[in-house]
Amino acid sequence: MSAVATPVAPVPRHTPVRVPFSDTRAQLAQVRADVLAALVDVADSGCYVLGPQVAAFEAAFAAAHGVKHCVGVNSGTSALHLALVVAGVGPGDEVITVPMTFVATSWAVSYCGATPVFADIDPATYTMDPDRVAAKITRRTKAILPVHLYGQPADLAPLRAIADPLGIPLIEDAAQAHLATYRGRPVGGFGLAAGFSFYPGKNLGACGEGGAVVTNDDTLAARVRALRDHAQTERYHHAEIGFNYRMDAMQGAVLGIKMKHLARWTARRRELAERYLTLLRDLPIALPYVRPDRDPVWHLFVVRHPDRDRIRTDLDARGIQTGLHYPVPVHLQPAYRSLGHAAGDFPVAERVGRECLTLPLFPELTEAKQDAVVEALAAVLKRGA
Ligand SMILES: Cc1ncc(COP(=O)(O)O)c(C=O)c1O
Repeated sequence: MSAVATPVAPVPRHTPVRVPFSDTRAQLAQVRADVLAALVDVADSGCYVLGPQVAAFEAAFAAAHGVKHCVGVNSGTSALHLALVVAGVGPGDEVITVPMTFVATSWAVSYCGATPVFADIDPATYTMDPDRVAAKITRRTKAILPVHLYGQPADLAPLRAIADPLGIPLIEDAAQAHLATYRGRPVGGFGLAAGFSFYPGKNLGACGEGGAVVTNDDTLAARVRALRDHAQTERYHHAEIGFNYRMDAMQGAVLGIKMKHLARWTARRRELAERYLTLLRDLPIALPYVRPDRDPVWHLFVVRHPDRDRIRTDLDARGIQTGLHYPVPVHLQPAYRSLGHAAGDFPVAERVGRECLTLPLFPELTEAKQDAVVEALAAVLKRGA
């Protein structure tokens, strides 16, 4: 009797791995007990806005960045807005910034009634190209606002060399760059003031919204402190028009706990970024470039490829989640139509917008999952070759 072959279900060669782009819950899991205890303390204290937890966090954050003052606020956008206000930016003024950033950088300028004036980015680091700044300066220029994009510091020394002789303040958008260093010093203290964000996905993220202004200037810090709280220097006395930009106590408590782990989490980001740089070295894709005088903190690991959209779709089909930072440069956003820009005005930023692809990178990413990203990317690139 001949044997009858029974159909056998095909065995997948390997179980597909799902790799998220980022994982805020995995991070919370590491500090969950401490965070929950701190939240209960705040709830029981009855003090829900500013207060001791916010003050303690401010002191720790300032110390970590080597600056005298840190003022906690309710978002990175508010932080940049206040930094520009105290730098004297007002209606009719111009602020030089970059077109390749999250749009909030420009919002801060617009909230002052000023106009964002864009200078294109450096094609290697994607941060403000100092060579393009001088030509943008006019009598109305009131500040220069570089962005430490993806966690890599902008080229601060030549920017200071342009700004200082003209008395133009430099304000750092450090929303993505907690603990990043430029020529061995942490960002945040290179200009008049800097703004940080603690949005949940940031390197230091709250369980909600948060931000901070840092500065070495005592007078300026006192004014930011008043402005965030309705410009009160004394209860119910308001010397100028203020804002409700206060940090809430629960976020201060969460940030205070997470702050203790930030150096370790940053080291892990650096380790994973180095690993990507090695593992992706021979693939036909543009990798991030780091100048030797900067130590980035890898908020985002962004590669570039002209066939970005196809690659992204194929990676998604293989379970690899990616991001786009940022697909539409600020000068081409409908919100800024009134500035009269057109495609072609800032070719470097536009190219990054078309080709950028952010790979998963967060401290809790395992090496096995990172290997899966690399393997999938290699396969997807081969298919397109
Ligand atoms: C470069 C940059 N600037 C400003 C902001 C604004 O921060 P937030 O979202 O906390 O208002 C962000 C973050 O979203 C950012 O990435």
